[in-house]
Amino acid sequence: MPASDTDTIHPLRAAAAAVRQNAHAPYSNFKVGAAIRARSGTVYVGCNVENVAYPEGTCAEAGAIAAMVAAGETELLEAYVIADCPNPVPPCGGCRQKLKEFGAAEVAVTLATTDGVEMETTIGDLLPGAFDAGHMERS
Ligand code: THU
Repeated sequence: MPASDTDTIHPLRAAAAAVRQNAHAPYSNFKVGAAIRARSGTVYVGCNVENVAYPEGTCAEAGAIAAMVAAGETELLEAYVIADCPNPVPPCGGCRQKLKEFGAAEVAVTLATTDGVEMETTIGDLLPGAFDAGHMERS
């Protein structure tokens, strides 16, 4: 839904949009910003950082999660991802798994466009049937 003056602006939107500006995306020209709120209430941000050796690039979500873990936190309670695209940006498969590592299935993930269109989903809906530690019980 397009944001308007009467809508409440998502509390993570400004942080995600701001860090997106710092993305290093000279190869795709697709800048992504992510903001996550951790258990303490602190908001961690990340942007995509591409590399001329393409597989070495990292996603915005991965950067935000790395910042959270580096600060000593391991639980995220909310996430917001933003990019300049026609529809709210869907996290890649790897980022879905990374979000799942640190957030419960019901954790809200808001996917957004720079135009103000937002779609709210959850970690569980982004990664149904996720691989988790329970699958290694017999090992
Ligand atoms: N990208 C992200 O940062 N997050 C996603 O979930 C989707 C893709 C980045 C990776 C790459 O730098 C660019 O977008 C194009 O794939």
